[in-house]
Amino acid sequence: MKYFFVIFALVLPVPAAELSTVDLRCEYHSRPLAVSTLNPRFSWKVAPADPAARDIRQTAYEIQVAGESDGFETKPLWLSGRVASPATDQIAYAGETLASGDRAFWRVRVWGTENEASNWSSPASFGIGLLKPEDWSALWISSKEEHSFTTTENVQNFIGEPSRGKLVVTPAKYLRKEFESSPVVRATVHATALGVYTLEINGQRVSDERLAPGWSAYQRRIHCQTYDVTKLLRNGKNAIGATLADGWYSGYVAYGLLTDQEGLVPGINGRYYYGDATAVRVQLKLERADGSSETIITDPSWKISLGPITESDILMGESYDARKELSGWSAPGYDDSKWQQAVCKTGTDSKVESHPGVPVRPIEEMAAKTVMEHKPGVFIFDLDQNISGVVRLKVKGKAGDKVTIRYAEVLHNDGRLSTENLRCARAVDTYILKGDPAGESWTPEFTYHGFQYVELTGFPGTPGLDAVTGIVIHSDTPLHGAFECSDRMLNKLYQNMVWTQRANFFEMPTDCPQRDERMGWTGDAQIYVRAATFNADIASFYTKWLRDLNDDAWDYGAYPAYAPRPLARPNEHHAAGWMDAGVICPWTIWQVYGDTRVITEHWRKMNDFMAWRATRDPELKGASDDCGFGDWLSVGEVKTPIPFIDLAYHAYDARLMAEMAAAIGKPAEAAKYKALAEKVRSAFCKRYLLEDGKLSIHNQSAYAIALFFDLIPSEKRSVSAAHLAGLIRENGNKMTTGFLGTRPLLPALSASSHHDLAGILMQQHEYPSWGYEVDNGATTIWERWNSYIKGSGVHEPSMNSFSHYAFGAVCEWMFTDLAGIDRAAPGFDRVRIAPRPTGTITHAAASMETRHGRLGCSWKIEKGNFLVELTVPPNTTADIILPVKGPVTEVGAPAAGRPGIREVNGNKLTIGSGTYYFISTL
Ligand code: BGC
Repeated sequence: MKYFFVIFALVLPVPAAELSTVDLRCEYHSRPLAVSTLNPRFSWKVAPADPAARDIRQTAYEIQVAGESDGFETKPLWLSGRVASPATDQIAYAGETLASGDRAFWRVRVWGTENEASNWSSPASFGIGLLKPEDWSALWISSKEEHSFTTTENVQNFIGEPSRGKLVVTPAKYLRKEFESSPVVRATVHATALGVYTLEINGQRVSDERLAPGWSAYQRRIHCQTYDVTKLLRNGKNAIGATLADGWYSGYVAYGLLTDQEGLVPGINGRYYYGDATAVRVQLKLERADGSSETIITDPSWKISLGPITESDILMGESYDARKELSGWSAPGYDDSKWQQAVCKTGTDSKVESHPGVPVRPIEEMAAKTVMEHKPGVFIFDLDQNISGVVRLKVKGKAGDKVTIRYAEVLHNDGRLSTENLRCARAVDTYILKGDPAGESWTPEFTYHGFQYVELTGFPGTPGLDAVTGIVIHSDTPLHGAFECSDRMLNKLYQNMVWTQRANFFEMPTDCPQRDERMGWTGDAQIYVRAATFNADIASFYTKWLRDLNDDAWDYGAYPAYAPRPLARPNEHHAAGWMDAGVICPWTIWQVYGDTRVITEHWRKMNDFMAWRATRDPELKGASDDCGFGDWLSVGEVKTPIPFIDLAYHAYDARLMAEMAAAIGKPAEAAKYKALAEKVRSAFCKRYLLEDGKLSIHNQSAYAIALFFDLIPSEKRSVSAAHLAGLIRENGNKMTTGFLGTRPLLPALSASSHHDLAGILMQQHEYPSWGYEVDNGATTIWERWNSYIKGSGVHEPSMNSFSHYAFGAVCEWMFTDLAGIDRAAPGFDRVRIAPRPTGTITHAAASMETRHGRLGCSWKIEKGNFLVELTVPPNTTADIILPVKGPVTEVGAPAAGRPGIREVNGNKLTIGSGTYYFISTL
């Protein structure tokens, strides 16, 4: 949306509010081919035919579901009838029982406040995945001897760390099968792997998805993908092929080669956490016009071979020898007589179900901005943006020429790549040319890196800029946020936040995309989850990750420090502020998307967690963790003790549990958790809150956390907030907070009459601050405020990620407090718009897509006037509080009074959907 201020010269007539429905989805996806439930939820948005219409509200809906797109009248599966309700989503299918593999169509119509009906929507579709184990006739297959295929054993030194292990990177395997087919009306393939895979049919890739089936708690649940491949099938001979690599299943994860950790299961050696035998399982269903069908499955009739991918690992990188290409291997007629016969693998007892999230895929290409020859034959390309992904290499040379590609986020002062911060992640790709006179092009398949700089060595000749193109890869969470303001630093910071989110929403919310971790650290996730919702639609991405998190909760109830939690890692720790993600993240998803299913799905585990929390700290003193994360990376001298953090989070969790219990209709449990929240809150106050509103832990994080979690009784809040403000001023208007303290800091200040100070911190340029990072050249959010300092270089390379979203959580404040858009009720059924100028900022604008449509606020101070443009989505009521004293005038009000404006009370208004312009004197 473009924000601009227009004073309408003409007063326009009010158009009739004709309604339509848009953005039809099922289980958050547009036309999903395979959902993993028999009662999928439908959603749509209501849109007026005339964009100028106001106060659009749905009063009723009707859904019809049928097996055929023209069967709604004749052969319906579900007729909801007219339901008087404003609900536009989370509406579960309640018709005839569906079964695995079914495909169905649905449509919806709605009524508005004048009882005007929309037309029926065009039909949307959904499919049911393979829900039961017996729905899979395909077998898990692989090579006979897993290790006979481990032909590449490179002993390498660590990059940046002394060698403690032997690096073993295995090649990818190619599996194929030919079959005959008569014409099909529909062909659907379901596929999964213990490892990562791609599929091809008749020489064509089935999808652009990367690293499928993704990472999950493989010991419990393995995801699968479903693709419609009707168009790839031919009449007559066909071939299907799969490429299989280690991925997260048996490749390096979780610190790579750190082999000497206490308790690590022998033989794990930084990989094989889930198993050392990769396997693939593919089931292709061919449906014919006469109603007959046939299923092609993975079984021992498939053939298997090695091929051009000679090494493949997520952390270590990929090697490709183009001389070993198997030209035409996935097309019919290929001579596979020298290939081995595939064998069945025991596979796994884990349930296989459709991936509920969004795929990881290439999203964007970035041209290199510069290239320089750092040393003879060593060329360094700069993409001018830190990204997650790989590169496409373009090269021409002779067969056997070998190009080595290394990646880095920053350069050393002498222009060398700085790779020390990658720790055990080798992050090197190599390409051996086949010598094609027309030139060659290669993109690694089963790896990814976090980088801005790319180094080529061994390149034949001098590469032009087009030798390297950055391929941005991440989970395809639809990006929908926009923010800009009059402070250029904040605009750059916002872009940096979005890039960091993109780089780390990579199958799970990771801590970083470059070094040897790239794990779903729970603390980072809970700190950032709300901020993330402003920038992208993360509903299904989080639906998936919350399953990982709950699958990997410890048996005794605690949530882990990261999820998925690689099996056989000794790391049993859990930590205050980290494990609490198990409660905070579902609560946030409910608050933003109105999704209560995520609460019911994980309710039992959340209760187990709370029960464990209670037994661990019966006297409510706050527990000490077995690991010392605390207020991670805080820079203040006074540290926040872990028991303080633990008790604060305990109280907060209890409050959120009470709210969630009420939302899913459990009043007794709501009351129980409300009482617990009060009890822990008073224990907290007894222990830490002094008479004068001061906390005995007198540092910024302690106050920020206590205020944000509403632990301080109302009569003392303003004094406590004044202590916080005092600490910040004494520190030269700078922060001392770490991961846990920074997230609540600005919201706590703004909520307690210190909005001016929040603005000062936001616009600060001195260390430590967001401005300091931007001034030092950041294109993403850094793990440390001083990860890199111009003129002096990289700091603390042993733990220094340049793409770490935790400190980017302030994005939430930029939307909710500065631009002023927020929910006022779960799911944005009611919204609050309260723009609050601060500091030197004279203009700010933010908008995002809610479940009801676009919500936005753009304000500007001009010649003593406050001008604001508001966009309120249909089906929503907005409570507006403008930072003005004088009367608020609507600019360009439509002719028939002021439709949509329900109430005006000084600077407070209540309005319905539509776009509005207001002006007032400040
Ligand atoms: C990760 C963090 C994480 C932390 C635990 C780090 O190595 O990168 O972001 O939360 O460990 O303190």
